[in-house]
Amino acid sequence: MRLLFLGDLMGRAGRSAAADALPTLREKLKLDFVIVNGENAASGFGLTSKIAGTTIQAGADVITGGNHTFDQKELLNVIDADDRILRPINYPEGTPGRGFAIYDAPRGKKVMVINAMGRVFMNAMECPFRAIDAVLKKYRMGVAVHAIVVDFHGEATSEKMAMGHFLDGRVSLVVGTHSHVPTADCQILDGGTAYQTDAGMCGDYNSVIGMQKEEPISRFLTKMNKERYSPAEGEATICGTFIETDDRTGLAKRIEPLRMGPRLMEHVPVV
Ligand code: FE2
Repeated sequence: MRLLFLGDLMGRAGRSAAADALPTLREKLKLDFVIVNGENAASGFGLTSKIAGTTIQAGADVITGGNHTFDQKELLNVIDADDRILRPINYPEGTPGRGFAIYDAPRGKKVMVINAMGRVFMNAMECPFRAIDAVLKKYRMGVAVHAIVVDFHGEATSEKMAMGHFLDGRVSLVVGTHSHVPTADCQILDGGTAYQTDAGMCGDYNSVIGMQKEEPISRFLTKMNKERYSPAEGEATICGTFIETDDRTGLAKRIEPLRMGPRLMEHVPVV
């Protein structure tokens, strides 16, 4: 299967660019399944049901979340009913929504997506390693599902890399989100799991991780909040991770970054 993961859609610039590009990308990369992280899609803070609808209509199969998942309270109206919207699995028991689900892909294939959040420089959460391990003990790749993608939303590269190796051989892809900067370490680990520490955001890179520059710089200089953060609105660059998996084992045969837009060096996989 060919799968594409797009990093955090940042505000209007990011979500519009992704929605515009997805139909063409689905065709050009012959994609069977698309996952996007949408936790910053609503002005940088959360996701609304309307934005989720537009993103799914444009060609996303699943939208994952992170620390901003519940910023827009309106999402609570749909997150229990709609399994295409995920939140990190390691929220406390009883949190609305779900942290993983199994989806139908073309030709009778099944894809599992798991969303989890790191705990280093992040809010206190249940252990993401144990939470994912418990799911994988129930659903084995190559038996119950044909591919498994893990979006690990975290700040620390060490924690994300540890997760990659912890899950190596048991999932198709471990990809990081949240830092909003793509890392140059796409690789297939020893056990066959594709890995990238961070997919990077879909957003305006003429910014401080997607936000207009002035307020973040001022906060570093003065330690005071003067204004609210607002997303940068220039043309967005789309960043993500492309993989091809072996349908029999679910393991990765290929991983490449996707970077498309005005700011970063372009890289579009050739299929
Ligand atoms: Fe985040």
